[in-house]
Amino acid sequence: MNAHHYDAIVLGAGAAGMMAALTAGQRGRRVLLVDHADAPGKKILISGGGRCNFTNIHTAADRYISENTHFARSALSRYTPADFIALVNRHGISWHEKTLGQLFCDQSAGQIVDMLMVECRHGGVTFAFGQPVTALDHADGLYRITLNGVEHCAPSLVLATGGLSIPKMGATGFAHEIARRFGLPMVQTRPALVPFTLGEDEALFRSLSGVSAEIVVRNGKTAFREAALFTHRGLSGPAMLQISSYWQHRTPIHVDFLPDEKQDWLLEEKRARPKATVRSTLARRLPERLAETLAGRLGVEAELGNCRDAALRTAADQMARWPFHPNGTEGYAKAEVTAGGISTKALSQKTMEATKVLGLYAIGEAVDVTGWLGGYNFQWAWASGKAAGEAV
Ligand code: FDA
Repeated sequence: MNAHHYDAIVLGAGAAGMMAALTAGQRGRRVLLVDHADAPGKKILISGGGRCNFTNIHTAADRYISENTHFARSALSRYTPADFIALVNRHGISWHEKTLGQLFCDQSAGQIVDMLMVECRHGGVTFAFGQPVTALDHADGLYRITLNGVEHCAPSLVLATGGLSIPKMGATGFAHEIARRFGLPMVQTRPALVPFTLGEDEALFRSLSGVSAEIVVRNGKTAFREAALFTHRGLSGPAMLQISSYWQHRTPIHVDFLPDEKQDWLLEEKRARPKATVRSTLARRLPERLAETLAGRLGVEAELGNCRDAALRTAADQMARWPFHPNGTEGYAKAEVTAGGISTKALSQKTMEATKVLGLYAIGEAVDVTGWLGGYNFQWAWASGKAAGEAV
């Protein structure tokens, strides 16, 4: 069989794969970009509610979770949010900062996919979409893949097929599988940026479905101040998604429902409004249904003026460190990303090439680098894609 020859084959036309392909193509490399889906960038299209939160201006290595917290630093410092913003600006895509440094397209996520495709074409990249890889091997310094019965080969193979999140959209463990086959170590994968589920003990909170509040959530030393949302299955909203990436099964998370209040705030309320109840006092600061549920759980029914100071102090402390005991998460079906994956121990932080397997590269979500919510994961995809694209 006559094989088609390239300098690099990129598996996965998502955020990282497209960036790697366009970078290598524009350096004059002959690149084949492969995806089993019939169109590129499907996750980009649904990201950020259809507006793609394409980067975060506060990107820094400490906002990524990995067994090696320093690994991402090099690539992130060589391809920064400013670099991606410059690309977006060159394509005339208008954008805005929503909150906490998160940048979104004004119009649609489709503009980002179009931009990346234009850049790929500019680099002369060959596309093979809607074609599953039916065979893959490595011999004589060449990676060979078969698509529709046709063989394609290259001295470099870039694994960019992402993580396990949202299998309904075509996510597979393909990159992990190939990495394992070539002997690369793996870090146990788990769903991240994912809603929690609550069990029967905390069923009362599930009845608050739809209620949200700005809170601080803590897991050990890690804390996020953002909105939390009660759902019919448990806890969601940005704060909960963020902390889920740090959560270990069978451990509690702690919520401060009133992060702006000082320790003795209920005693001050008692002096200022002795006729008020805990419930009415909470309802002035939190959604009514949440206030009612918390007051019911605290069991302090009397008017504040008739409550002992110690009881009010205890109630305030409880509300500042309210434990929730998730019995799980909503899993890969609802997880925005996959934590864990191809171990960074196996990769060069400069090029993303496997240190012991010449010509094999891994980038994006397939690698054990998981960003916070808010544009950090795309920035990692761009930066790691760029690093590999410059090296192949
Ligand atoms: P990505 O998943 O983008 O691409 C992988 C590609 O490989 C896909 O095109 C897939 O079809 C292909 N593929 C998979 N298996 C294959 C196989 N066996 N053979 C061939 N091809 C295969 N992040 C962020 O920073 N800002 C945001 O706004 C959002 N929003 C968001 C919303 C939702 C609903 C989700 C699920 C995720 C986000 N994310 C996000 C996360 C972000 O989408 C994610 O981190 C990046 O898309 C990862 O980029 P990759 O290129 O690594 O994988």
